Amino acid sequence: MGGGMEKMTKQRVVRNMLIGAFCMACLATTGGSMTAQAADKEAKAPVPAAAQAPTLAITDCIKCHAQAPKDIDERGGKHKTEVSCIDCHAGHPPNVAEIIPQCKQCHSGKSHYELEGCLQCHSNPHAPLELSLAKKLTAPCLTCHEEQKVQLNKFKSFHSSMDCTDCHSKHGAVPACMSCHEGHTPDMVQAECSNCHKAHMPLEVKYGKELASKQCSGCHQDAYSQLAANKTKHHDVSCVTCHQEKHGTIPRCEDCHGVPHAPGIIAKFPKCGGCHSTAHDLNNIDEPKQAKSEKPEQVKPEKVKK
Ligand code: HEC
Ligand code: HEC
Ligand code: HEC
Ligand code: HEC
Ligand code: HEC
Ligand code: HEC
Ligand code: HEC
Ligand code: HEC
Ligand code: HEC
Ligand code: HEC
Ligand code: HEC
Ligand code: HEC
Repeated sequence: MGGGMEKMTKQRVVRNMLIGAFCMACLATTGGSMTAQAADKEAKAPVPAAAQAPTLAITDCIKCHAQAPKDIDERGGKHKTEVSCIDCHAGHPPNVAEIIPQCKQCHSGKSHYELEGCLQCHSNPHAPLELSLAKKLTAPCLTCHEEQKVQLNKFKSFHSSMDCTDCHSKHGAVPACMSCHEGHTPDMVQAECSNCHKAHMPLEVKYGKELASKQCSGCHQDAYSQLAANKTKHHDVSCVTCHQEKHGTIPRCEDCHGVPHAPGIIAKFPKCGGCHSTAHDLNNIDEPKQAKSEKPEQVKPEKVKK
């Protein structure tokens, strides 16, 4: 027998010892009439789970298994309160060979429960709400969050080509834009990104009425510095008071001022700018060109026209 023993791994020895002890425990609770051989035979015949249940109490599990009871106790959630070990594990090896349950036994009726590989995300059934998300996931997220994908599809941007978990690597966590991007001015902070952008439609730039003009300055240095230097009341009007709500809108002078001069004058000089220059450089009619050339090199995005 010695040679056979040597081939056994240490683990197997321990395992067999444990199973031995386990059988003894069951035998004790069932009256001890079975021999070890009889028990072995019975293992080969399929045993209904119900017949096994009374022989093994939940309190027995912890005698041999430490981790599962600990996980359930600390992080089991509804798998602690709504079900017990033996609702999921009916019977026990060697008597019952297959005692790992299918999730679908108890969870059905939602598209989420039709997913493949539940354990990909719910990696520990004894702590079911602790999720470890695989790297490139999108489709499974949509069983609960449709709206985000609808936005990503409707408003195409580079983000539309990314997987949900590229940004949400942990469930429920929201990434900082600035973990991947820089702001438009050196002093711009993360909290300000959402003044103009939404993550799932980042090119649909919209903003509220309170936005500080400084936030536009990174890309429109000309407009910003002209207004800052302007001596008329436009100096105190913010960018978004004139360029309302959606990026790129341009107002007409008349939207705010109506027709401020006698019709005769307007008919003769239809362009407000002919006398008032531009809205940013208002009334700087004497030397509008000089005002520009005084400034150091402009940091103006190439794409900005006019
Ligand atoms: C006397 C010790 C002992 C007791 C008591 C015991 N187990 Fe086990 N259990 C083992 C051993 C040893 C194994 C490894 C058996 C094997 O792999 O064939 C095991 C394996 C398992 C497995 C894994 C089976 C698989 O297919 O991988 C589950 C699940 C399990 N036990 C659940 C339970 C539950 C639930 C209880 C309480 C109702 C319990 N055990 C009580 C010793 C015990
Ligand atoms: C909601 C169902 C469910 C409940 C309740 C449950 N288990 Fe499990 N258990 C599973 C599933 C599913 C697996 C297989 C996990 C895998 O394949 O990674 C498993 C695996 C195991 C294993 C083998 C792997 C390991 O983690 O060591 C043991 C032992 C085990 N369970 C013991 C228990 C004990 C003891 C209890 C009660 C304290 C319990 N289980 C409660 C579903 C459950
Ligand atoms: C024996 C029945 C049974 C099995 C098998 C089972 N569950 Fe459950 N599970 C329940 C019950 C009952 C609840 C509580 C009611 C509900 O949320 O549906 C629950 C709740 C959950 C919850 C929510 C937990 C909470 O605290 O809110 C998750 C997640 C979950 N199960 C995942 C799984 C996964 C994954 C599997 C397979 C590894 C699985 N379940 C297998 C019965 C089971
Ligand atoms: C892509 C990852 C992923 C996969 C795969 C996955 N789940 Fe989930 N599951 C989640 C997330 C995320 C939640 C929400 C957790 C929360 O509410 O905090 C969840 C919640 C649950 C819940 C509790 C809430 C509810 O809506 O019922 C159950 C039960 C559940 N899953 C069962 C399953 C089952 C069964 C499978 C396999 C058929 C499965 N899950 C596959 C990620 C996943
Ligand atoms: C079974 C349903 C379910 C699945 C699947 C699911 N979620 Fe959730 N998710 C929820 C619920 C419920 C909440 C709100 C409760 C919470 O914060 O945990 C939530 C919250 C979130 C939040 C935070 C929302 C906020 O307001 O801060 C993000 C981000 C998120 N999920 C992303 C994902 C991603 C990415 C996936 C795919 C890997 C995913 N979810 C899969 C149900 C689910
Ligand atoms: C996990 C990294 C990551 C996060 C987090 C992230 N982005 Fe992106 N984003 C990218 C990549 C990669 C691109 C494409 C390359 C580039 O333009 O930098 C991109 C592109 C963009 C674009 C240009 C889109 C286009 O199609 O031209 C905008 C605008 C944008 N991101 C804004 C944001 C905002 C605002 C946030 C926060 C709400 C954010 N991003 C969060 C990775 C990320
Ligand atoms: C480029 C990174 C990025 C990608 C890709 C991304 N998200 Fe988000 N998500 C965020 C950020 C950042 C927020 C915080 C809100 C914001 O800035 O608009 C967020 C918010 C959420 C929220 C909270 C509710 C809401 O809409 O604000 C959910 C749920 C969510 N994301 C799910 C998803 C799902 C599902 C996918 C894949 C279809 C996905 N996200 C793809 C970055 C991303
Ligand atoms: C005042 C509004 C505003 C704020 C605040 C803002 N953005 Fe933008 N962002 C824009 C506009 C407008 C565009 C140009 C969109 C276009 O080209 O149509 C843009 C473009 C981008 C782009 C695309 C590449 C580029 O530079 O043109 C990224 C990435 C970006 N923003 C990230 C951010 C991040 C990160 C923050 C926060 C630190 C932020 N934005 C804050 C208005 C803003
Ligand atoms: C990330 C850089 C960026 C930021 C920040 C930014 N813009 Fe722009 N803006 C641009 C670009 C690029 C264009 C040219 C877009 C085009 O031609 O489609 C533009 C064009 C404009 C136009 C002119 C549209 C036209 O038809 O000529 C206005 C008006 C404008 N922006 C106002 C603003 C205001 C107001 C803010 C602050 C709320 C702002 N921008 C913030 C990059 C930016
Ligand atoms: C979104 C509204 C808005 C638009 C568009 C607008 N203005 Fe004004 N303008 C104002 C406000 C507000 C004042 C200050 C009024 C006050 O305090 O009495 C003002 C003041 C003026 C003044 C008086 C300046 C002073 O210091 O007394 C002139 C001249 C003027 N605007 C011309 C124009 C011209 C020309 C245009 C088009 C190029 C224009 N405005 C576009 C809102 C606007
Ligand atoms: C009083 C209203 C008003 C204010 C304040 C204002 N704008 Fe304008 N803006 C206009 C009008 C009107 C035009 C169309 C050109 C013209 O007639 O002056 C315009 C044109 C533009 C354009 C496109 C043409 C160009 O000159 O580049 C951009 C970009 C722009 N504004 C950005 C801004 C930014 C950034 C701010 C804040 C720093 C700002 N504007 C403040 C009214 C205003
Ligand atoms: C022929 C030159 C000329 C034209 C064209 C012109 N303005 Fe004026 N505007 C003036 C002069 C000069 C004043 C100063 C009058 C004063 O101080 O009483 C003035 C004053 C104003 C004021 C300030 C009124 C006040 O009560 O303080 C506004 C607003 C104004 N103009 C808007 C406009 C708008 C809008 C247009 C185009 C529809 C326009 N102007 C076209 C010459 C002109």
